[in-house]
Amino acid sequence: MSTAVACATAHPNVALAKYWGKVLAPTNLPAVPSLSMTLDSLSTTTSVGFGPGLDSDRVVINGRSATDAEARRVSSLLDQVRVAAGLRTRAWVETANDFPTGSGLASSASGFAALALAATKAAGLEWDSARVSDLARQASASAARSIFGGFVTLMAGSADTTFLAAEPLNGTDDWQVAISVVITTFQPKEVGSTQGMAHTRATSPYYDAWVEHAPSLFERARVAVLARDLDELGTVAEESAFAMHACAMGSAPPLVYFSPVTLAVIEKVRSMRRSGVPAYATMDAGPQVKVLSSAANAAQVASTLREVHGVEKVIVARPGAAASVKLVGQST
Ligand code: DP6
Repeated sequence: MSTAVACATAHPNVALAKYWGKVLAPTNLPAVPSLSMTLDSLSTTTSVGFGPGLDSDRVVINGRSATDAEARRVSSLLDQVRVAAGLRTRAWVETANDFPTGSGLASSASGFAALALAATKAAGLEWDSARVSDLARQASASAARSIFGGFVTLMAGSADTTFLAAEPLNGTDDWQVAISVVITTFQPKEVGSTQGMAHTRATSPYYDAWVEHAPSLFERARVAVLARDLDELGTVAEESAFAMHACAMGSAPPLVYFSPVTLAVIEKVRSMRRSGVPAYATMDAGPQVKVLSSAANAAQVASTLREVHGVEKVIVARPGAAASVKLVGQST
């Protein structure tokens, strides 16, 4: 018996209105709505084949065997695919990022988006993007957004939600904007998003205020994208990022993702703005900074940020394409 091998590519995304916090339900539902931009110049490529000869799922990430925790997360997505497709066979999965993994560069977003797409295709499921996005969301909520290109929204769930997929903001992906990804370290982050948000929810006195405030930030970001209003989008992106981090920093013990270099980059972004170059900073669960600007100013923004002491690398990204998949052969 042989089955198809599918290879998928997905791009990471940067949230401009942040998701931080989950509904208390078993299926990974975000407690707040979020809005992101998919990044064209970074990608994850993942191949999946269901092989009758395997006694367990084999997962290779960037050329090394997955840790037990990583493999469990992959297998739980594959289990859902097996149930839907009526398959009993285990799978091999090979995935590689062309950017540093686990350092706040959204590798779980592109990783689980590519995995969901490759696994469903390899299993012979003809699912539309919304269904694949819902599957990816259960593994990592930000991954739901990486199924789509350009600007993408993901609504909040509630305890009785049974299906939740991201949605593209149609007609916005030709907007001439850019995000400069400022890498301040190649070390993996210490506290991942899943763990970080559970800790915040359990211990931060600001958590309820964040959950109450986040929908208005999301709505302002959505309106700003539709109006192609860079200044408003950048302003609200900074408010969202700092509100999320303030909430996380209020946890006990505090959750601090910023390094001294993160703060130096933020200060440089502010000084560029004072000198008339509109640029806006956002940070996720790691020390990297992502800087929103017009596409026309991106080269200047990136070269200014490369000068900040401690910055390792700056990658300029434009709105990227949706995740894609193709059948590449047979697994025996
Ligand atoms: C700060 O999607 O990685 O990047 O659903 O637990 O896998 P899980 O979390 P994840 O969290 C992303 C958090 C963020 C903000 C965002 O991307 O919206």
